[in-house]
Formats: sequence, structure tokens, C-alpha cells
Amino acid sequence: MGAAGWSRLAGASTGRVLASAGSLPRPFGVPLPVPPVARPVRSERGADFYRVEQREGRVEILPGRKTTVWGYDGIFPGPTFAARSGRRTVIEMFNSLAVPTVTHLHGGVTPPASDGYPTDLLLPTRCAPGRTHDGMAGAHPGRTAVGYRSYEYPLPQRAATLWYHDHRMDFSAPQVWRGLAGFFLVRDAEEDRLPLPDGDRDVPLMLCDRSFAADGSFRYPSHHDRDAFPDGVLGDVQLVNGAPWPLMEVAAARYRFRLLNGSNARRYRLRLDPGGSTHGRFVQIGSDGGLLAAPQPLDAVNMAPGERFDVVVDFSSFPLGSTVTVHNTAAEGRMRDVMRFHVVRRAKDDSRIPARLSPSFAALSPNSTLPVRSFDFRRTHGADGSDERQMWTVNGRPFSTDAVLASPRLGSVERWRFSSDFHHPVHVHLAQFQVTARGGRPPRDADAGWKDTVDVRPYEVVEVLVRFTGYKGRYMLHCHNLEHEDMAMMANFQVT
Ligand code: C2O
Ligand code: CU
Ligand code: CU
Repeated sequence: MGAAGWSRLAGASTGRVLASAGSLPRPFGVPLPVPPVARPVRSERGADFYRVEQREGRVEILPGRKTTVWGYDGIFPGPTFAARSGRRTVIEMFNSLAVPTVTHLHGGVTPPASDGYPTDLLLPTRCAPGRTHDGMAGAHPGRTAVGYRSYEYPLPQRAATLWYHDHRMDFSAPQVWRGLAGFFLVRDAEEDRLPLPDGDRDVPLMLCDRSFAADGSFRYPSHHDRDAFPDGVLGDVQLVNGAPWPLMEVAAARYRFRLLNGSNARRYRLRLDPGGSTHGRFVQIGSDGGLLAAPQPLDAVNMAPGERFDVVVDFSSFPLGSTVTVHNTAAEGRMRDVMRFHVVRRAKDDSRIPARLSPSFAALSPNSTLPVRSFDFRRTHGADGSDERQMWTVNGRPFSTDAVLASPRLGSVERWRFSSDFHHPVHVHLAQFQVTARGGRPPRDADAGWKDTVDVRPYEVVEVLVRFTGYKGRYMLHCHNLEHEDMAMMANFQVT
């Protein structure tokens, strides 16, 4: 592809725009889809079993054109899993795609064998044993399965908005871009007792950007061309739940939106328009790791890739017939538009946002006896100093499956410091954390609650307290800019 296909209108995101070819739809012309909820194939005491086939699907994303997606059950986003805290969810995953996959439950407290380690490949059904794909199975020995693998999620964790997505070594970015991502919602008794909006007023919203070729297919740099996008690939079409700049009709009532930044590299600063101090605001009720102790009003929601914000918007303060637009003020041009709400009817609304959401929420306190570890996220260039073959590193090294950077004890809390040369959304598997300082200052509003992903900004140090619960074994932390992740910005830790 030539330089003409690129634009630098990236706004505050780290990355480069890959331009679409052909005409793009006008904003707010298609209805917001909501992914279907997966149904178990069987349930027994304490466990629900699902069967999912990763396969190609032909879907209409741009009106009048067809896009081939690589989807869980052939759809994008994949089906939403509705799970219960402490109740085992088992996903029997079949791979009918032409490429190996790895499935990771992001935010899940998951045993290592089911966590989706990047070399634990699930090879396609049509693959003869012993054959390798792109040299991958041979180059990185992992727990390889052929055609089928069962992922077990015991979910010893609070209610929270999780998501699942592809995590294949070196290929997560293109495979997620082509559709391998979906919601996984965990609910629990504490949340059930709250009078929050629910039913069809509890809506997951997956935000991601994509680019398209003129025939409607996804556009993404080939493996070779990816070197031209070291900072990340940005699309020029904003999707919400897989639809371009959609419109959602709402009642004049409260809605709960589970916002997910499912983009490879794009960052969001979401605002409502019209907005104001009494209406047109987001009230945040939850973060990556579930409910906050108390709600907090936010004029803007800042989301780096991988982060989730659970918010309530009250449409009752808008006149009937009005529209409320969600803007991304971190973007430029048409990417400033995200989606629109149209307040079309009055409705009864018994929901409330209680002043205390989660009495069980315990703030961790920093303590000088806790083990301290530092992780520096930085770009390095090839050994010859050339600009080519640049790598994204953690503590100076590109990812290696056998290097272990930390060995925290199960049940312990540690102080981790993330520093960076750039925007790096740092994600930790298994463990959740609380942000205690950012750039030597108290955390921002957006850092509230239990998190598994935190936006580390250029030349900033973010300090977190990480609690290791669940399981022993090898896990990873990495940058959730998926292009950085594929360019080796990952590291192992071993819970002992
Ligand atoms: Cu959402 Cu290791 O990833
Ligand atoms: Cu994860
Ligand atoms: Cu990064």
C-alpha cells in the first residue's frame, strides 16, 4: 500500500490511520445492534457448557456491502456470555477458520491452562497434526490443540464486564480486527440487589474502529506492511457493536451502558452532546473489575484499549424527540462522532443509582513492606540501531516465553510501577489492581475502582497495588495496544 492511503489525523491516539476505500455511510443511519446472548448447550450443577465455533461469516456492516468476518459463531461482536460469579462456565471452542487461534477471557480469574497464553494454539480443524501454520506451532511450543479446545472459567470473582478476544502470538491485532471479540458479563448477588437499570436498559457497547476496502472487506496491513504501522493501526470508521456510527432509540429513562474500548489502538474521550452539569453526563458505576464503592459523575470518559467503564446515562432530563450524540473528543474529523441516541418515548423507570454501590469494596492501602516491582514499557530499535525492526519492550526486552519478570505469591499484594515512553495501556492477566498514584500525584477519576488495564501516558509512572488471587502459574502482562502487543510488548509473571 502506498503512503497515499495513510493520514496522520490520529488526534490523541497512538497510531496511524489506515484509510478506507470507497464511500462510507453517513453517521447515525443504522440502528445499534446488540449481540445475542449465548445459550448453554447443557447445564449441570454449578456449571454451564457452551459450544462456540470460530468461523467466517458474511455480515452487512456497511449498508449494501458484505464483510467477511472471523467471528465466534461467525458474528462480530461474538455472542455475549451471561455468567454468574462462582459458577463454572465451560466454552467448548471449535476452530473452523484457516488460522490458529487463542482465546483469552480478559478480566477473568482463570486457571493458567484456560487463560489463553499466546502460544497455546488452537489449530484449525482442517489441520493435520504436526503441520505448522506460519511456522507458529513449531517456533513456539505451547499447549497446542487441533480443532477443539475446552476453556474453563470458574469465575471466583465479583460481577464485572469482561470480554473475550483472540490472543494468538504475533497475530492478535489482525485477528481481533477481523472480528474475534465479544462480551462476557459476570453477575453476582451483590449487584442483583441494586436498583440499577437492567433488562433492555443494560446495554453493552463495544467501541472499535475499522477500515474497509471498496468491496466492503476489512482492510488491515499485511504482515509485511505492518512495519509501517509500528505505533498502531487506526481505522476511519467508528463501530459500536459492529455497526458504523449507529443510532439507538431510547426511552426517557436511565440506561446502563457497559462501555468497552475494543479498538486495537484508538483511545476515546467520550462526551455527550448536549452535555451539562445536571444532565448529559455519565455517572460511572463500575470499572474493569466491577462496581465502584460509590458512583462518580464524569463529564468525559477516557478509555484506552482494553478498558471498560460501566456508566449510567439518564435520558429523562432531555425533551422527548431530542437527540444526544456521543462524541470522541480525542479524535479528529468524522471519527469525532461515535453514536447517537434518540429519545423517542416516555417510560416508567424504577431504577436508581444508590449512593453506595458496593459495600464490599475494599480499598487497598499502600504499605512500605509490600514488594515493589517496576515495569518499563519502551520502544527499542534493532541491534544495529536502524529504525527497521523496532520492537516494543518491557524492561528492555522483547517478549520471550521463558523469561519470567516477577514471581508474586498467591494471596499477596504487590506495588507495581508502570513507566513508559509513550501511550501504553498496560494490562495484567489474572490479577486486578487499584491505582494509587499517577505521575507522582493522586490518581485521576478515570483510575477509580478495581482495574485490569490502565492507561500509562508518555513519560508517566503509574503506581498500582496488585492483588494476586485465584491460581498459581504462568500469566502475562502486556500492552493492550494490539500492534504493540504483537510487536513483543508482553512479559511473563509466575504466581507461586
Ligand atoms: Cu485483553 Cu492479554 O488481553
Ligand atoms: Cu487479559
Ligand atoms: Cu504500547
